[in-house]
Amino acid sequence: MFSNIILGEFFMNMNTNKIYLDQASTSFPKAPSVAKTVYDYLSGSAVNVNRGGYLAAYSVEEQIFETREQLLRLFHFSSGKGKNVIFTENITTSLNVLLKGLLKPGDHVLVTAMEHNAVMRPLVQLTKNGVSFDRIPCDSEGNLLLEKASALLRPSTRLVVCLHASNVCGTIMPVQEIGNFCQEHGLLFILDTAQTAGTIDIDMEKLHLDALAFTGHKGLRGPQGIGGFLIRNELAAQIEPLLSGGTGSASHSEEVPAFLPDRFEPGTPNIPGILGLHAALSDLEKASGNPENSYQVSMESIFAHEMMLTRYFIEHILELDTDGKFIKVIGKKNTDNRCAVVSVQTPQMDMAQAAYELDDRYGIMTRVGLHCAPNAHRTLGTYPEGTLRFSFGPETTSQELDTALHALAALTGLKS
Ligand SMILES: Cc1ncc(COP(=O)(O)O)c(C=O)c1O
Repeated sequence: MFSNIILGEFFMNMNTNKIYLDQASTSFPKAPSVAKTVYDYLSGSAVNVNRGGYLAAYSVEEQIFETREQLLRLFHFSSGKGKNVIFTENITTSLNVLLKGLLKPGDHVLVTAMEHNAVMRPLVQLTKNGVSFDRIPCDSEGNLLLEKASALLRPSTRLVVCLHASNVCGTIMPVQEIGNFCQEHGLLFILDTAQTAGTIDIDMEKLHLDALAFTGHKGLRGPQGIGGFLIRNELAAQIEPLLSGGTGSASHSEEVPAFLPDRFEPGTPNIPGILGLHAALSDLEKASGNPENSYQVSMESIFAHEMMLTRYFIEHILELDTDGKFIKVIGKKNTDNRCAVVSVQTPQMDMAQAAYELDDRYGIMTRVGLHCAPNAHRTLGTYPEGTLRFSFGPETTSQELDTALHALAALTGLKS
C-alpha cells in the first residue's frame, strides 16, 4: 500500500515536473485513449478470448480482429489478411520466434553493423547450432554501405534481418535498397521497426518484406508488453513455432495448429495490451482528421515535429560548442535520413554522472550506456564508453529542449 502511494506520486510528478527525453526506450505520454481503454477492459469484464461462448468474449474478439486489420493498413500489407498479424510481447519475442524458428544449421544471414541485441543475441545463440552471419559495414555515422553486401553473399545466405533506424544515433537504413537487393538475390527480408513504427510510413509490399516485427510501446504509443509481427504465408510455412500450447482452437488435437495466427499464438494473449494498442492506433488514425491515408498523414506531422526538435537540439549544441569539447554530437549532425534519437558524449564529465544530475537537478530523463547495441558503438567509435541519449516524441516541446540544453551546458562546464 505504502509503495503504491509513492509510485502514484511519482507518476503524477512525471506528468507535471519531469521532462521525459527517453522516448526511444518507451514512449510517454501514451496515446490519449490508451489508459482508459485498458482500465475499462480490466474493470469492466476482463473476459478471455477464443474460449468463452458468450457475447462479451465475442466483442473483445472483434476488437482484436480489428487491431490486426489496423496493423495491416498501417504497414500497407495489402496481400496479407488478419491472420498474418501475430501478437507477441514485443519485438524481441517476435525476432526470437522468427529467427529461431526459421534458421537451420548451415544457413547464413546478413545484418547491418548497427543492430540491437534483439537481433544479435538470437543470432549469436544460433551460431552455436551452425548458423553464421556477417555484418554489412556502416560508416562512422551509421550509414549502411550496401555496396559492400554483395561480397558477403554465400550460396547459403538465406536472409537479411536488420533494424530500420538505429536506437543509438537515429540513422535510418536504406530499406528500399535493401529490399531490392534481397529480391535480386532471392533472400528473405525481415525488418525490426522498433524506432520507426508510428512515425515513418513503412510499406511492407514496396519494401518486399517477408516479415515485419513491431513493438507496441514505442512510437505506436501503446502499452508495454504488446508487439508482434506481420508475416507472409510462404515464410510462416518455413517457421517452426518456438512456443506451443492451447489456442482454444482444434482442441481435439495435441498437434500445434497449422493455421495462422493460432500457430504462433499459444496461451491467453495480452488482451489489455492488444486493446490498448487498438486504442493507440485508432488515435493515430483519427489524429489526421483525414479519412484517406489517415495513418500516413498523422505520421507525417509527427515526424515533421520530431525533426524540427532534432534539428533544434543539434544546432544549439553545435552553436554552443563547435568543436565538441564539452558536448560532442555522435553520428549525423543534421536531420537527413534519421529519426529523433540523438546521442552525445560529455568528454569533460562522466556520462552516467551527467544522466544522474540531469534527472536529479533538472528532472530530465535520458538514457546512458550502450543501449543494447554494442556493435553500433564500435561502428560509431563510442565503444566501450557508450553515449548519453536524448530521444523525442510527438509531445516533446522546444521549451523542454531549451531546459535540457541549458542543463547540459551547465553540468558539463560549458556555461554556468
Ligand atoms: C532497434 C531496436 N530493436 C529492438 C528493440 C527491442 O524492443 P522491445 O524491448 O520492445 O522488444 C529496441 C528497443 O529499444 C530497439 O531500439
